[in-house]
Amino acid sequence: MDNKYFYVTTPIYYVNDKPHIGHAYTTILADVLARYNRSLDVPTFFLTGTDEHGQKVQKAAEKRGIEPKQHCDDTVVAFQDLWKKLGITNDFFIRTTQKAHVSVVQDVLQKLYDSGDIYKRDYDGWYCVGDERFYMDKDLVDGKCPDCGREVTKLTESNYFFRMSKYQDWLIDYIQTHPDFIQPAFRANETLGFLRKPLEDLCISRPKSRLSWGIELPFDKDYVCYVWFDALLNYVSAVGYLRDEEKLAKWWPASIQLIGKDILTTHSVYWPTMLKAMDLPLPKTIFAHGWWLTGTAKMSKSLGNVVNPMEMVEKYGIDAFRYFLLSEMTPGQDASFTEDVFVTRYNSDLANDLGNFLSRVIKLTGRSCGGAVPAAGALQEEDLEFMAAAAEAVKAMPEALASMKIDRGLDAVLNIARAGNRYFEKTAPWKLAKEGNTERLNTVLNVAAEALFKAAVLLNPVMPEKTAELGRALGYSAEEFAACRIAALDGADHVTGRTIADIGALFPRVEIAPAEEEKAPKAEKKAKPAEKEAAPEGVKLVTIDEFFQTQLKTATVLQAEKIEGADKLLKLQIDIAGETRQLVAGIAKYYEPEMLIGRTIVVVANLQPAKIRGIESRGMLLAAKAGKELRLITVDGPIASGASVG
Ligand code: ME8
Ligand code: MG
Repeated sequence: MDNKYFYVTTPIYYVNDKPHIGHAYTTILADVLARYNRSLDVPTFFLTGTDEHGQKVQKAAEKRGIEPKQHCDDTVVAFQDLWKKLGITNDFFIRTTQKAHVSVVQDVLQKLYDSGDIYKRDYDGWYCVGDERFYMDKDLVDGKCPDCGREVTKLTESNYFFRMSKYQDWLIDYIQTHPDFIQPAFRANETLGFLRKPLEDLCISRPKSRLSWGIELPFDKDYVCYVWFDALLNYVSAVGYLRDEEKLAKWWPASIQLIGKDILTTHSVYWPTMLKAMDLPLPKTIFAHGWWLTGTAKMSKSLGNVVNPMEMVEKYGIDAFRYFLLSEMTPGQDASFTEDVFVTRYNSDLANDLGNFLSRVIKLTGRSCGGAVPAAGALQEEDLEFMAAAAEAVKAMPEALASMKIDRGLDAVLNIARAGNRYFEKTAPWKLAKEGNTERLNTVLNVAAEALFKAAVLLNPVMPEKTAELGRALGYSAEEFAACRIAALDGADHVTGRTIADIGALFPRVEIAPAEEEKAPKAEKKAKPAEKEAAPEGVKLVTIDEFFQTQLKTATVLQAEKIEGADKLLKLQIDIAGETRQLVAGIAKYYEPEMLIGRTIVVVANLQPAKIRGIESRGMLLAAKAGKELRLITVDGPIASGASVG
């Protein structure tokens, strides 16, 4: 991003409810943008907070039989605790009940009242209690709230209005001439569609007789301010509006204001017209992201399918959760959350691609180079090719950020690991070690470790803790790693001479229990055999029943090691649907132990246990053999261990 300063905001969340995955998503997205900008050496201010006035909160407090402020003080803790737990680095947490905010809102109200942009009149309308919004006759859909479809109540009262209508033409023109203002572009079109109808003035007061929990109008103590008018002002009250000119000039206009698509109109119509009336510039971008769904359904409390972020975090860890949310959702579009999708992505991106690349670099360096990253010698074509993939990611990530395509940026970084694993298959450093080709081995390990370091720094804003661990594996202390910047990734060598540390599995694989029906007997396969066809000479035909006497299953390799005194054998620990087994296989000539870890192989699961060279082996893995070639049988994509093969 080419800004000198970066100011990012999230919506301020209602304290009538507990935080869920949607709130977590917007806040993590903002956190990641803030961390990336800091890593690019851009001064950054990140604001989040809570929306504490209005009917919803008053109702929630009444239900609990306590004062609204007490209710806010109780519920705000759930948000603050969650953000702490999720590693959120907001620079300020605004609560709209804070005195500093309240007094700025009152000053704005007074200012606009004095300038004539706020006036009083009698008003007939339809009110939706749930949404706290007034509607005109023509807005209603089948006589109900156009937004949520609930019943509305007719109201006539005297109220104060903001002259929003006055700014309609200006706003249309502004949106049309500032394509970056509302993003994605289809949301700008949606707003322009809304603005095709005449824009009404906005009712910004509520008589205290109806609602008392709000900011009192400075010019009429019988009224409180409409909650949205109050809430939107948080974005400027938090950075010194009407209080600290220098601070305001530094951070405003905001670089990007993140919202969910549910609150597009308030942010793309109310907010800009308010700013115009206050004579403030508009934020550079309002970005409306899509919706997290449960499977294909909307997440809702009544459907009981709301994902609780804490549960996911407890089960899979903070960083895996942050990574999943950011890599799974294309900002702007909806995305679906299911635990299966979560585990599949976790296993393939983190456990396999990144985890395996890491463990290969560390194990090989530890074993062959005495524990320090060796210096590189002359570079060859395949080194340069792999280095280009890493350089590509260093370039792609800032670009992805600027265009809000973080999922693509992450994919480019994961490509370092994928390309790294291919680089190892090609250069076979384990062979180089065996052949004593130290110079070439050193080069390969140096190139690989540097690429791994780049991936770690690039992933740091998304996975701060795991990447610090990765840094530790490459010989960086926590402080040293925290000081590494994406801005300084180009060119320089960051790894030569570093003492590596074996940190074990950074992302242990998560096993998916095979679905019930897979365990059930395969009735259709036990059908009577068709009439036997003539067999090619010398081939004994078996019936399907005979074939299925052999149980073939997928298994994940957990550990692999050489067996002393048996240069053909490897001892493997494998996982079959949660059961760990030991297996001895004659593949040491073809596979280095570290090539196998994390791979899904196929084994004969019901083979009688045997002892090979005195070591117990329970099962047999399948491999294809032709002359001197041997290749393991594997599966072509992620699948649970223990899945039946046949
Ligand atoms: O609207 N998927 O607060 P709120 C993605 N106080 N994001 C979701 C989501 C989902 N399923 N559910 C919620 C308010 N969100 C006002 C805002 S701002 C001046 C005042 C996120 O508690 C998304 O960011 O209802 C959405 O816009 C926000 O939570 C709404 O939070
Ligand atoms: Mg809402």
